[in-house]
Amino acid sequence: MATAGKVIKCKAAVAWEPNKPLVIEEIEVAPPQANEVRIKIVATGVCHSDLYHLFESMNNAYPIVLGHEGAGIIESVGPGVTEFQPGDRVIPLFISQCGECRFCKSSKSNQCEKGWAAERYDVMSLDDTRFTCKGKKVLQFMGTSTFSEYTVLNQIAVAKIDPAAPLDKVCLLGCGICTGYGAAVNTAKVEPGSTCAVFGLGAVGLAAVMGCYVAGAKRIIAVDINPEKFEKAKVFGATDFINPKDHDKPIHEVLSEMTNGGVDFSLECCGNVGVMRSALESCVKGWGVSVIVGWTDMHDFAARPIQLIAGRTWKGSLFGGFKSKDGVPEMVKAYLNKKIKLDEFITHNMTLAQVNDAIELMKQGKWYTPILHHHSSFNVELHESKITVLKFGFCFVPQHPDSSECFSTIRSSCCFH
Ligand SMILES: NC(=O)c1ccc[n+]([C@@H]2O[C@H](COP(=O)([O-])OP(=O)(O)OC[C@H]3O[C@@H](n4cnc5c(N)ncnc54)[C@H](O)[C@@H]3O)[C@@H](O)[C@H]2O)c1
Ligand SMILES: [Zn+2]
Ligand SMILES: [Zn+2]
Repeated sequence: MATAGKVIKCKAAVAWEPNKPLVIEEIEVAPPQANEVRIKIVATGVCHSDLYHLFESMNNAYPIVLGHEGAGIIESVGPGVTEFQPGDRVIPLFISQCGECRFCKSSKSNQCEKGWAAERYDVMSLDDTRFTCKGKKVLQFMGTSTFSEYTVLNQIAVAKIDPAAPLDKVCLLGCGICTGYGAAVNTAKVEPGSTCAVFGLGAVGLAAVMGCYVAGAKRIIAVDINPEKFEKAKVFGATDFINPKDHDKPIHEVLSEMTNGGVDFSLECCGNVGVMRSALESCVKGWGVSVIVGWTDMHDFAARPIQLIAGRTWKGSLFGGFKSKDGVPEMVKAYLNKKIKLDEFITHNMTLAQVNDAIELMKQGKWYTPILHHHSSFNVELHESKITVLKFGFCFVPQHPDSSECFSTIRSSCCFH
């Protein structure tokens, strides 16, 4: 590779300060150091967590290159890298898998302690960045920074995928889709013939519906306060649809009546502690399992102890419980083998230069998430045309649990009101 060992100058969308449009700049991307790889990013999703950092986060980590749901091609590798070669198709991972730490060695967890998040979770950026722009160090968001034509990651946070996979589709597996799907399959362990309820039908909830369906659930009840989501949920396998606003009684009572005492599995995909409680109470006593997927650190949750004493289990799920390096390539294979859907999440196509339009769309529109294509030459090679894709949106944005006001200014919807 002509560029190996050299600084690469390329385009990236730089956030210089909060609440301002990103600026397409020429940045310098340093060569990968020991155990690192440099990746040419081909496509990336735009998640709510990118917007959260830009519009709401208080941590003031700037300048920064956002983006964490991408797919690309290895351009060069640093010393000590044996697992990757230039040309490998890869997905950057915001949860690492070192294979050596206590958490990687256990089959019970995917929370590797060697990744960027172990130390820098508070600012969601990698201090030890390989980016500079106009003489300034530029931070890497969530250890990844996929709104750049090139990025550098430690090899413990990169998944090698089937070269046949279309990168503009499988980039979706870098975040929300694995989260919802895995929460159903890995964490809840949904069983064939079971009855499930999924609360919240954004990208994560729709992926949870898909997980329940693939696991063989016979009845999947989709719950959302926005009935426009129901049509899409049907595509992923939902059989019944409930809008809590259509009912006078608590939603767990409605579900209990519909299912002769409660569902076998429920998944909360809203990030609302009131809904988390409803989801638990919607489970049947004796064996019901409820999984918290939605994220918030704004409020505590509560429930009556009898709910658990009576035999229900309450669990949480991070990135769908997938060990990232192992799980993401398997999900890519599942897509190629038509076991899971990805195309159906996609609603728009855009380019990296349109990143601010994509962000604007998300702000107004709510729960869609754009995927941006970075290199037109690669797009031609892979797809004959420039593509960008909008998918259903994402993550890490807190919601107000029980009032008429959404905490987030970028969310389309929240709460019951
Ligand atoms: N655990 C993880 O690893 C992880 C990873 C990614 C995202 N998340 C979280 O998952 C959640 C969902 O993400 P998303 O991108 O799909 O969000 P989203 O905003 O696109 O979707 C949320 C859905 O919930 C619905 N909703 C809101 N209040 C409701 C209520 N009271 N009852 C029923 N439905 C309600 C909304 O109408 C919307 O359709 C977020 O909280 C996000 O932070 C968690
Ligand atoms: Zn994300
Ligand atoms: Zn580890």
